[in-house]
Amino acid sequence: MRVGIDAIAIAVPHRYIALEDLARARGVDPAKYTHGLGGLEMAVAEPGEDTVALAAQAARRVLTGYDPQKLGLLVVGTETGVDHSKPVSSFVQGLLDLPQTLRVYDTQHACYGGTAALMAALDWIASGAADGRSALVICSDIARYGLHTPGEPTQGAGAVAMIISRDPDVLSIDVGISGTASIHVHDFWRPLGQREAQVDGHYSVQCYLDALGVAFAGWKQRASLRGIDSLARVCYHVPFCKMAKKAHAHLFGDVDYDAGAALHLNARIGNIYTGSLYLSLASLLSAQAAELVGSRIGMFSYGSGCTSEFFSGVVGPRAVERTADLADVLAHRERISVGEYERIMALTEPLPRNGGEVRFTGVVDQRRQYASS
Ligand code: HMG
Repeated sequence: MRVGIDAIAIAVPHRYIALEDLARARGVDPAKYTHGLGGLEMAVAEPGEDTVALAAQAARRVLTGYDPQKLGLLVVGTETGVDHSKPVSSFVQGLLDLPQTLRVYDTQHACYGGTAALMAALDWIASGAADGRSALVICSDIARYGLHTPGEPTQGAGAVAMIISRDPDVLSIDVGISGTASIHVHDFWRPLGQREAQVDGHYSVQCYLDALGVAFAGWKQRASLRGIDSLARVCYHVPFCKMAKKAHAHLFGDVDYDAGAALHLNARIGNIYTGSLYLSLASLLSAQAAELVGSRIGMFSYGSGCTSEFFSGVVGPRAVERTADLADVLAHRERISVGEYERIMALTEPLPRNGGEVRFTGVVDQRRQYASS
């Protein structure tokens, strides 16, 4: 049975800063951020654009023209949920008025949480338990580090929503040949109650590369048993764009990574944690789907802490039309100054209006409220 990604959509905050502006404000050579880390811009979410709002917007986009009665499962991968108990997926179900017959839950393991959701959906369908139904998988996060820290230029925010089904249009996943690697490390974490992550930055880069080597070896061993020995492209988890180039060099030596295609959205949005790998896939397909139809793509997902998975899939026949307008999400954003960004980062209450389709409006009687237009 062919199983995989049938449709994909993105939601991002309405504001961003240019990394050159941030570098100048921090007294850093702008080339460090643009060439050293590989970014151009960074999404800035105000409190009204929380993880739920971004998830709901991406989901609404991916479900446009789709009959929600075909769904049987909704899973949100996130590490920046809004409640210790009530999952983001539950808010999304209510905001989009999705069927009450759905199985609904969140998955968490740092940036791997989205892949955990995807794998659960793939297994559910491939096992036959789905009984012909499809799954809605959403990756949604707000990536935050402290102001003036080395991690500051690697923040971002956004959501990627995907419909997972049989006979998928976008990417048919090679179920059963993943390679995985998990090691208990303190490379990146966020203690309860803190909005900003703690990170041992250079160590986290090494943890990522170590896990990549083990996960890729596992994939390669299983893939070769099925006669699969080459990949047309590889998409990586992208905490900052240079990381994907380091990862590619780690696996394949000093070869040129086609950064323009696989990273053009990541470079303008930043790290979106669980969705970063899928944002890279969206970048690649929005730029090169036509030439990649029928080709095999490698995918590496990394979640600090850590766990990781290398898997692969074949680009589907309708990937071109399904991914052509993905970059349009960048068209209506507003560039803000570093001063405005710092003001927004200090906010704890949503701005009165943010122009969003779905937004968090505040807490009433200890219950989070959302407006949907
Ligand atoms: P840093 O120490 O400020 O930067 O922080 P650096 O000194 O290492 O410089 C960075 C690069 O810029 C280097 O390139 C420099 O040479 C270059 P490299 O040697 O690495 O190729 N550079 C310049 N280039 C051009 N012109 C210049 C210039 N100056 C320097 N003038 C660090 C870097 C990534 C550590 C920091 O930003 C950080 O802590 N980021 C957050 C952690 C992170 O993203 N880790 C990635 C792996 S962990 C992961 O992916 C999981 C995660 O997504 C979370 C989750 O799973 O939930 C983070």
